[in-house]
Amino acid sequence: MKKIISILLTAGVMISSFTATGCAENMVTDGEKVIVLTVGDPMMRVNGESKEIDPGEGTAPVISNERTMLPVRAIVEELGGKAEWNGELCRVTLNHGDNEMILEIGSTEAYFNGEKQTIDTAPEIINDRTMLPIRFIAESFGFKVEWEQDSQTVTVSGAAATDKTGTEETVSDSEQEESRMLVAYFSATGNTETLAESIAEITGADIYEIVPAEPYTAEDLDYSNDSCRANTEMNDESARPEISGKIEDIDEYDTIILGYPIWWGTMPRIINTFLDTYDLSGKTIMPFCTSGGSGVTGSVSDIKAYCSDANVTEGLSGSASTDEEQIQEWIQSQE
Ligand SMILES: Cc1cc2nc3c(=O)[nH]c(=O)nc-3n(C[C@H](O)[C@H](O)[C@H](O)COP(=O)(O)O)c2cc1C
Repeated sequence: MKKIISILLTAGVMISSFTATGCAENMVTDGEKVIVLTVGDPMMRVNGESKEIDPGEGTAPVISNERTMLPVRAIVEELGGKAEWNGELCRVTLNHGDNEMILEIGSTEAYFNGEKQTIDTAPEIINDRTMLPIRFIAESFGFKVEWEQDSQTVTVSGAAATDKTGTEETVSDSEQEESRMLVAYFSATGNTETLAESIAEITGADIYEIVPAEPYTAEDLDYSNDSCRANTEMNDESARPEISGKIEDIDEYDTIILGYPIWWGTMPRIINTFLDTYDLSGKTIMPFCTSGGSGVTGSVSDIKAYCSDANVTEGLSGSASTDEEQIQEWIQSQE
């Protein structure tokens, strides 16, 4: 499993486009928000939907002095909070639910709900942008922050707060279980893996590779040969190729985005092994496939029949080159 590693303590956050009067309105949202930002990309993805981070300005997360800088205003607002900049006092005030944080440029003292706190990284202005320490803010407000080194991606997630004037109670992480997604995939020759990685990046989901205990060789996959291993397995409905390793925390995931190549019109038998291994009742399974041309439909029917207690959604027939727009359309059509 590719581990998404936690962001460094020294990571920072950049406030974009603050003006003295630029206070954001409180937003009323419901449920969990997952915000994915990539270094150098002025777009962010909010629950899979692409948005400009700093509308019209092209502001993108950057790495400066080994710190990742993120536009905190967009994040706080997306999570139902409010961010205000006081230019005279060089002070940033962040509100989320009933919580308030005040930070000042150049000061390692911050105030969280009126209590003085010490932060390891003082907020600073770089290129007219205000840098704030992300972990301190995230932990105080109960957001989760993850850093994916390979893709230079930061994922911020948390339960949305509501305006105090709204009818809903403020929701905190401790009051509402996080909704988590896992991309689990099997790929014999790499096509499904490429698509799985794109889906994980776009959705902010964790990713897990279903690795056969006995790897498939090119000979095993030569399906022009009736007696190759893959064909032998597909001709035997009870074949359950062993998987190497196990997901220990499957219960933490509500949605399994399940990927595989199409083999003879359906999913490979190792996917049945995967489905046998875990209790997926009550979970959502979102199947996706790559193939030489066959669609995902047959395998979706087979998964539905195999996991009658799970909510199996319409699948995605994709390829290694399925683009972000197609993936987002699919994700949104499942919601
Ligand atoms: C045993 C076997 C059976 C296959 N059967 C089909 C099929 O029925 N329809 C199809 O379009 N492609 C079929 N393919 C092609 C794969 O689905 C396709 O190459 C896929 O993208 C491979 O994904 P991977 O690189 O993740 O393993 C088959 C491939 C193998 C090895």
